Amino acid sequence: MQSPTHYSRTQIALHWIVFGLIALQYLFKDAISSAWDQIKNGVEAGFDPLVLAHVAGGALVLVFALWRLGLRARRGVPPAIESSKAQGVLAKLTHVGLYALLILMPVSGSVAWFGGVDLAAQGHNVLKIALLALIGLHIIGALYHQIVLRDGVLMRMRRAQG
Ligand code: HEM
Ligand code: HEM
Repeated sequence: MQSPTHYSRTQIALHWIVFGLIALQYLFKDAISSAWDQIKNGVEAGFDPLVLAHVAGGALVLVFALWRLGLRARRGVPPAIESSKAQGVLAKLTHVGLYALLILMPVSGSVAWFGGVDLAAQGHNVLKIALLALIGLHIIGALYHQIVLRDGVLMRMRRAQG
């Protein structure tokens, strides 16, 4: 299969929708945390729209991540722009790690929430730090491309060309 020269409109839209959903998961995390504390203490947790939003938003992240992986496999992505072998490997590892966490976060959260498994909630709490760290690394990489290398990588995720 020949690699495309750019990300498609759908690939770009999914990237930024997932970014927005993840930002909301972190910004409004307190509702699900306190609902979980109540459940652990045997208290009936009342309905809270922010808890529903965490569960639904997380499920959407999973659906969109699988959709993106499907698009990658069928349509492909533009070839990586690498300034060195090491930088290329680091970028690839970061992308693999991000995809893995976009799947593991909703899965661990669901096992905790629907299965009542505290170990899964603890895993969810560790993974949330790993996800934040990888997002930080990913953003530093994007800015490095934009400001230092000036190779137009950021533009590839902004507008579909042609
Ligand atoms: C990519 C998707 C997700 C992200 C980024 C995410 C992120 C987070 C964050 C940041 C917390 C707060 C932990 C804290 O500091 O107290 C949290 C807690 C929690 N999330 Fe998620 N979450 C996602 C998906 C889900 C899903 C789909 C479910 C359930 C179906 C879920 C269930 C929970 C539960 C039960 C907690 C409470 C855990 C605790 O406080 O020990 N999460 N999540
Ligand atoms: C929740 C936050 C984010 C996640 C989970 C995420 C995830 C990803 C993933 C998995 C890829 C690889 C896509 C593929 O080739 O299949 C990617 C590409 C990309 N992301 Fe993000 N991203 C996030 C935020 C951002 C932000 C804030 C920026 C800009 C500052 C950004 C800029 C880019 C760029 C430019 C690419 C294309 C890289 C290339 O062409 O090789 N991302 N992102």
